Amino acid sequence: MLVLVLDQSDFLARYWQREPLLLRAAVPDFVPPVSAEELAGLAMETEVESRIAECRGEPASAAAWHLEHGPFPASAFDRGHPWTLLVQGVDQLLDEVAALRALAGFIPAWRLDDIMVSYASDGGGIGPHYDLYDVFLLQGEGERIWRIGQRCDDSTPLLPHPDLKLLAEFDCQAEYTLQCGDVLYIPPGVAHWGISVGDSTCFSIGFRAPRMADLLSRCIDARLVQLPASLLLGDAGRSPTGAPGEIIGADIDNALLQLRELLTTRADNSWFGELVTETEAEPPAGPELRQMRSALHKAGSHARLAAGARVAWQALDLDIRVFANGNSHLFGLQVREPLVTLCADGVLPLPADTGCAELLEFLIREGALEVSGATKN
Ligand code: SIN
Ligand code: CO
Repeated sequence: MLVLVLDQSDFLARYWQREPLLLRAAVPDFVPPVSAEELAGLAMETEVESRIAECRGEPASAAAWHLEHGPFPASAFDRGHPWTLLVQGVDQLLDEVAALRALAGFIPAWRLDDIMVSYASDGGGIGPHYDLYDVFLLQGEGERIWRIGQRCDDSTPLLPHPDLKLLAEFDCQAEYTLQCGDVLYIPPGVAHWGISVGDSTCFSIGFRAPRMADLLSRCIDARLVQLPASLLLGDAGRSPTGAPGEIIGADIDNALLQLRELLTTRADNSWFGELVTETEAEPPAGPELRQMRSALHKAGSHARLAAGARVAWQALDLDIRVFANGNSHLFGLQVREPLVTLCADGVLPLPADTGCAELLEFLIREGALEVSGATKN
């Protein structure tokens, strides 16, 4: 079984979202589940999101960097300069890579974005940059040097490049050479730069956080639906004014205080789970839906989280609200156990308890559950 050797509480208190952390031999006996050849094979498929970055000169010059998007022909993998192939969402394509998600199972699954796998030739990399997301870089085959740089934000100067957000300056503060099974955690906004030593692969377990702008707009939308039109701003206890045209700071503070009270009420907060489980996944078509419904009752069937599905749940006083691919539904407390298993292991044991029939129907309809493997007869 794969484990990430880490003091989880200490990591979350001191490093998560704060500081980079190198973890040597963090995944003991790690055998990279994808080879460079298999990765190249994936990058030839049309439905797979892949990119190749090549550096044809001085990394500090924007003109040296070239970016191409897949799918790629076999000839694309024969290059004269250092290059990197990046394949997005490999956890949605290969079960062996999906299994790596468990390494970060101590962080809520709704924060996980995807697992990107990269192959880099000797000297290859995607240049100095920063990401908005947290990432665990797990070294696969070969070795890669990782340089950690300065803190960055929207005002950090970038090289003028149409496709790549490369940093104009890189202030190297630490450098590590990662070997198979080593992990480097990088928080959002910290500059980093990977350079391959010989051929190498890297598994990036990436996390996304919802944008504050989206949270605010979804929260406000939900509150507006519930808000009585007769509710007005109150200003009991105001002081006399000598200048009737003036809006004073206390008026604004009073309005902000009352808005905050509205926003922080614990009424119906399903907007949060709906936002963080949103995906681009399509719900299944009619025939597929019928096939899965009938497979549920056949011996030997398996139910698992669909590729790319996002499922989460929230315990309320008397029920459980389940979120699947951006939609939600209320269920009884009996659905807790199967949900814990589904969200942690990606599988839902069948036959499910009869009290879970509605949950299964909801998950299947939302495209979050795949039911398969029933013997045909
Ligand atoms: C890579 O795997 O080469 C890039 C990963 C990253 O910088 O986030
Ligand atoms: Co990065």
